[in-house]
Amino acid sequence: MADDQKNPDDEVLCHCSGTRRGQIRELFLGGRDMDGISRWTGALSGCGGCEWDIGVYLEELSEAQATEAAASASEATDVAASCGGSAQDDVASQ
Ligand code: FES
Repeated sequence: MADDQKNPDDEVLCHCSGTRRGQIRELFLGGRDMDGISRWTGALSGCGGCEWDIGVYLEELSEAQATEAAASASEATDVAASCGGSAQDDVASQ
């Protein structure tokens, strides 16, 4: 199998602990920050050489999450507007 066909989740980001990209993503989506991920996996507790890569990956995940949230909010506003109201009206009535 060529390298470009490997599952990116299997990429090891911390070689000291063997922590993989997929583990980090799951923990991030579960609400853990860098410290929590370190405590849970042991990443960043050895040589520290993975700190940059994990930090960059967490920034990518944060940006993707923010983009997704903005798209959902925009979609909710569009749906509310097409129903004659606004998302704010819906929230205010709750
Ligand atoms: S590579 Fe992550 S602590 Fe060494």
